[in-house]
Amino acid sequence: MTNVTPTADAVDQDTGGYPFHVTKEEERRLRLQGARAIPSPVIGQATSFDEYARQLMVPPAVMDLARKAADLRLSAWEVEAMRKQLAPAETDESMGLLRRILLRKNDKDSTHPPYIRVACTGRGDFDRLATEHGYLDDLEEPEGDIGSPVVLEIWPAQHYSPIHSHGHTSGIVFCLAGQLDVMLYDRLDWNATKLGMLTLTPGQCAWLTKETYAVHRVFCPMNGGDGTTGPGFMNSTDEFGASFHVYLNPDETFVEIDDGESHTRNAFDYIREDNQARDKFETHSDLSWSVLRRVLASTPLT
Ligand SMILES: [Fe+2]
Repeated sequence: MTNVTPTADAVDQDTGGYPFHVTKEEERRLRLQGARAIPSPVIGQATSFDEYARQLMVPPAVMDLARKAADLRLSAWEVEAMRKQLAPAETDESMGLLRRILLRKNDKDSTHPPYIRVACTGRGDFDRLATEHGYLDDLEEPEGDIGSPVVLEIWPAQHYSPIHSHGHTSGIVFCLAGQLDVMLYDRLDWNATKLGMLTLTPGQCAWLTKETYAVHRVFCPMNGGDGTTGPGFMNSTDEFGASFHVYLNPDETFVEIDDGESHTRNAFDYIREDNQARDKFETHSDLSWSVLRRVLASTPLT
C-alpha cells in the first residue's frame, strides 16, 4: 500500500537525527531489545512459546483493553477519505480539513511536526472548522474537551510526538492504518535511557501502565516527501498512520498511588523539543469522531 522510508535515512551517523536521535547501529540494537523485552511491549495472539512467555506478565487490565480492541479496523473508504483530507493542496480552497488543522497546529507550536487527536467521546477544538468549511451545519461548543478516554490519532508521514509520559494511566496504542514506530524510555527526561523500539502495523497493539512503558515517543516512518523531519517540518505527501488509544485513570483500574505525577489523562507530562525541559500539556482533542466521521463521509473519493 505504501512505501516505507527507513527511519534512519536522514540520520547522521555520529549523533542520529530526528526524531529518535539514534544511529543505524543503535536502531538495530533497540529493535532487538524491543523484540526481546519482558513483558512484551506488544500484545498479540502468541504464535510461539517464547511470545507467549513474554506476554505472561502483561497486566490483565491492559490485556482486557487489547482484547476488546482486537477486531477494530478502519474501513478502506475511511482510510482513503483521511488521505484526501491530509493531502497537500495547491490552493487554499482545495485544502482538506485535516491538512488545515495540521497547518494551524504547526503555526502554534513548531517544536515538533503536528499530529491530530480525535476524541471518540466529547468534542474537539477544531470541530468548528468543519462547519466553517461547509462540511457540517453550525456547532454550538467553541472549545474541545480534554481527557477523552478513547482517542484516534492521525500521524502524517514523518511527523512525531515529543517524548511524553502517560503518568498514572493504563492504556493501549492500537495501530489501525499505515505504520508507527514507538520508542520506549525508562523515564521522562531528554537523556532518558531508551528501552527498545517497536514498529506497529494494523492490528498490533502496544500498551503502558504507570510502572511499565509509560514514557514513549511515536513517529510515523512512512514516506513524507521532500525534506528531512525535525522541528517545523510539514510533509508533502498524503501518507499517514492511524492509531486508536485508550487511557484509563487509576480509579478506573482500582490502583491509586500519590507521588506527584499526573494521575489522569486530562494532562500528560512531556519533554519540550526546543529547550529539553519538562512541561505539561492538557490533552485537548482537535476533532470529535462524530464530526470527523461526517467529514469523511462527505469527502469525494474520485
Ligand atoms: Fe502517547
